[in-house]
Amino acid sequence: MSQNDFIVIKAEEDGVHVIGLTRGDDTKFHHSEKLDQGEVMIAQFTEHTSAMKIRGKAIIQSANGTIESDAKK
Ligand code: TRP
Repeated sequence: MSQNDFIVIKAEEDGVHVIGLTRGDDTKFHHSEKLDQGEVMIAQFTEHTSAMKIRGKAIIQSANGTIESDAKK
């Protein structure tokens, strides 16, 4: 997977968070995007973003395949 590949996230419930974590020596949250049911976010890994955390029930498609995250407790 390259930085040019897109990650597609589709929220399966209200209030799904897509959280971007910084690249480099320290790994910190730098952006949190809230998606409601049915909303889709298309994102890339970048110079600034090395990881993403998805919180809530969503379908996530990437070059690695498709995975479903579960609902928050
Ligand atoms: N400014 C961020 C960046 O260029 C925007 C971003 C890209 C982002 N991919 C993301 C934010 C994934 C959250 C999740 O890296």
